[in-house]
Amino acid sequence: MGQDVLSVGLEGMKGHIVRVEANVRSDKDQFVIVGLPDASIKESKERVLSCLHALDVDLDMKKVTIHLSPADKRKTGTGYDAAMLVAVLREVMKEPIPFDASTCILASLSLDGRLESFHGLIPAIQQAVLLGFKRVLLPPVDVRVLGKALSAELIPLADVHQLLDCLRGQGVIAMDIPNVLVKEEESPDVSHQPDFASVRGHKEAKRALEIAAAGGHHVLMTGPPGCGKSMLADAFHTILPDLPNEEMLEVYSIYHLAKERRGFSSRPPYRSPHHSASAISLIGGGTYPKPGEISLAHRGVLFLDELGEFSRKTLDMLRQPMESGEVTISRVRQSVTYPSSFTLLAATNPCPCGYHGSNERYCTCTPQQVRAYQLKASGPLLDRLDFVLTLTSVGLKQEMPAETSEKVRIRTRQAQLLQKNRYNSPSLNGTVAGSVLLATCGLTERQNELLETVCFSKKWSNRTLVKLIRLARTISDLEGLEYITKASIEEAIHWKQVADLHQDAQRIHGTT
Ligand SMILES: Nc1ncnc2c1ncn2[C@@H]1O[C@H](COP(=O)(O)OP(=O)(O)OP(=O)(O)O)[C@@H](O)[C@H]1O
Ligand SMILES: [Mg+2]
Repeated sequence: MGQDVLSVGLEGMKGHIVRVEANVRSDKDQFVIVGLPDASIKESKERVLSCLHALDVDLDMKKVTIHLSPADKRKTGTGYDAAMLVAVLREVMKEPIPFDASTCILASLSLDGRLESFHGLIPAIQQAVLLGFKRVLLPPVDVRVLGKALSAELIPLADVHQLLDCLRGQGVIAMDIPNVLVKEEESPDVSHQPDFASVRGHKEAKRALEIAAAGGHHVLMTGPPGCGKSMLADAFHTILPDLPNEEMLEVYSIYHLAKERRGFSSRPPYRSPHHSASAISLIGGGTYPKPGEISLAHRGVLFLDELGEFSRKTLDMLRQPMESGEVTISRVRQSVTYPSSFTLLAATNPCPCGYHGSNERYCTCTPQQVRAYQLKASGPLLDRLDFVLTLTSVGLKQEMPAETSEKVRIRTRQAQLLQKNRYNSPSLNGTVAGSVLLATCGLTERQNELLETVCFSKKWSNRTLVKLIRLARTISDLEGLEYITKASIEEAIHWKQVADLHQDAQRIHGTT
């Protein structure tokens, strides 16, 4: 008995080590796979038997039992084929097949012994590296692009012979391998977006969006039709910094699982689901669970345009993932978790006709209609939003000089680097755990007192207090400062007051 053959299983996007054991004994012919395999793994039996036949392995009057542990976790997909074959071969071949604990095998099999790719290969590779594997044995796919993003050695192998040679420490001949990855072609979600400089006026909103982009804070924009809400949202994507390699691969893996097309691009994702989208397409799930829009927006932007038109039930479902950065979908047989750390950008008209509070036209809605619309639009999410911006049509006079997205992106990139170094993780100020934020933010006693006094006088909750610290931290990070400044605290308070004005307006409508 030596080290078990190792592979990687996925529950949603979370990987776990799967140990593959085989037992071969004299008995009547039988081949059994245990350890909660799904139908596709049960079919592995035929592929493994056919490969054993191709290798001239005689299993007459033998009972083969394969155990996939941990036994209580469901296994899906065909990626364990090659690991199962190796486990059986180690039992029946005279020549030993060593296997060390830093190696794992991720490959499906063809009937004649070729290693094949399978759905979920990319996320499995990404998770294998996170689990600490140093060597990942793969089917022949071009992993050079992935290799750049990973610290482990990725070894593509053509067939079972090469796989055995590799395990026995013999060199493997380099081969021509097809590229299954979508190259860095322009992703559909990054093309044709307006530059920040092409949005005229809206100086305050642009400042808020820069802070939101730097720290991952959530924003709601309200205003009459045509004032530039959608344009600002599109331009927001262009001021987000590029993703580092590991995050780029993480995002790519989610798209791979969802069977959605995305280039191996360093631009953060930008998703703008229509308001008629179902809860499942937004949150994720289904009979065969797959990631929803909130996970496809991971490390990027989720833009909900016409927020008031979304169903309240759907919006309610966003609250938990917004707080935890991941979403867990419980099914009868298993629950799966997908990452969902996104920046929410929402836009809405102030009322059904769109002109409430506008100086362009009269609003034709009743106060009750206005209140119902505003509550639906922002009610479930209001306490999770950091910026509530009330926009008006500004005229198209350009303020000179208008900063381009490229210039703003230099600042947001710097600010994000500071945060990621401080937290030693991809977390940003908007979503990092409160305890970590408080332990590292560098707030002085006096600043703390100032914040507490303001919160007490304004009757703001502790949640608001922490939010103010998050915002102030980002504002200081944008200036490249190690400590939070008084000016950044004052600016954070200003943004909270601006958001309160919006809420007060809602309340007034409720009573008129
Ligand atoms: N601040 C602005 N600077 C430059 N162009 C603008 C500005 N605001 C609006 N526009 C122009 O008006 C068009 C409509 O703006 P946009 O779609 O952003 O409005 P909106 O606020 O989203 O309206 P709706 O509520 O109807 O969705 C834009 O495509 C753009 O051409
Ligand atoms: Mg719009």
